[in-house]
Amino acid sequence: MKLRSKAAALLLLALAALLLTLLSLRAGRAEPPAPPARPAAAPQRRPAPAPERLPGAGALPRAGQGARRRRPPRPRPRAGRRGAASMEKLARRSGESRSFQAVLPPELWMHLAVVACGNRLEETLVMLKSAVLFSHRKMQFHIFTEDSLKPEFDKQLRQWPDSYTKKFEHRIYPITFSVGNPQEWKKLFKPCAAQRLFLPVILKDVDSLLYVDTDVLFLRPVDDIWKLLRQFNSTQLAAMAPEHEIPKIGWYSRFARHPFYGSTGLNSGVMLMNLTRIRSAQFKNSMIPTGLAWEDMLYPLYQKYKNAITWGDQDLLNIIFYFNPECLYVFPCQWNYRPDHCMYGSNCKEAEREGVSVLHGNRGVYHDDKQPTFKALYEAIRDVSVFLPPFSRHVLISMKQSRCFYHQSL
Ligand SMILES: *[C@@H]1O[C@H](CO)[C@@H](O)[C@H](O)[C@H]1NC(C)=O
Ligand SMILES: *[C@@H]1O[C@H](CO)[C@@H](O)[C@H](O)[C@H]1NC(C)=O
Repeated sequence: MKLRSKAAALLLLALAALLLTLLSLRAGRAEPPAPPARPAAAPQRRPAPAPERLPGAGALPRAGQGARRRRPPRPRPRAGRRGAASMEKLARRSGESRSFQAVLPPELWMHLAVVACGNRLEETLVMLKSAVLFSHRKMQFHIFTEDSLKPEFDKQLRQWPDSYTKKFEHRIYPITFSVGNPQEWKKLFKPCAAQRLFLPVILKDVDSLLYVDTDVLFLRPVDDIWKLLRQFNSTQLAAMAPEHEIPKIGWYSRFARHPFYGSTGLNSGVMLMNLTRIRSAQFKNSMIPTGLAWEDMLYPLYQKYKNAITWGDQDLLNIIFYFNPECLYVFPCQWNYRPDHCMYGSNCKEAEREGVSVLHGNRGVYHDDKQPTFKALYEAIRDVSVFLPPFSRHVLISMKQSRCFYHQSL
């Protein structure tokens, strides 16, 4: 990404401002100022339970507020006496990246995985940039890609300036399939799609992970979706959003020739996984009565259903959670907002109320003209120069309306 001029910055600001207006944002709505900091005398062992309703993304991301608010200097906790609770607190303090980056132990990092093959390099980098722009806690990126793309990923990520790179570390992995025939897995839907099913097996040292497709953009901190992991009950080990809100017009309810989760199926483009639990669970299935470990289940499952599945790994996940519904935490559509949520009228009520938290531009909408708002958001984030000071970044994203935003309401 090359250094852009002031003029380009202004242009971007103008575009962002235009978007803000067009999207009938809640930006003007007064938000009560957040308390400057949690009282030090009230340590908490776990993150506070999330409010019933998450704060709207209509408000500016907290990074922006936090970064601008001046806080009285606080004493740094003494090394060695830092319990998990105070670590969590450090991790949660927004906008103070410098103070926590140095001390945040790796076990508190967030883990983000993506599988990028073919021509998905730029899209993936824009997704990663959006994750860095809006997040507070340090992240580990796990990038699975073809050998031919590895050098370019490495090169581009290393070019990012310190203000970005101090917020993450990245590892690049080749595409590998631990069980079954690699050629067969590659034929499933898209060449690399099945890779994601193997993450629990490959990332043995990772406790939990957020997997996203390359065409995902974070419009608020990754921290916010990461917190949902803590809301899992004792049997839940993964979280996804429904594929559709309305069975009558959903794909699975009309066309699927295999079992699927719930009444409309699941979309796997944004998926939280507690890998520790996935690795130790026994999954009910239609093949043997006793239950199978994740890794042992994948290939037989594929063999059994390969002629019935259309969307590859997503279909396999739907089959798995059909048989194991108690293992799934369903999060609302604002965490995986797709063109389907507005193409046939608005059917993601949470996004109307609370804003879009994670945008998922599937169907290639970032790259054609079918969904101008999706494309505009993609281009706005793509064109944020990583070399500009943060002031220009926080203006970007704040939106409320679904309904495919402005082009349908104009
Ligand atoms: C994942 O599950 C394991 C085992 O139940 C638990 O110890 C761990 O804290 C969980 N991770 C998160 C991030 O909730
Ligand atoms: C966890 O939540 C799921 C989904 O609501 C439910 O099916 C399951 O029974 C719950 N598990 C426990 C132990 O309550």
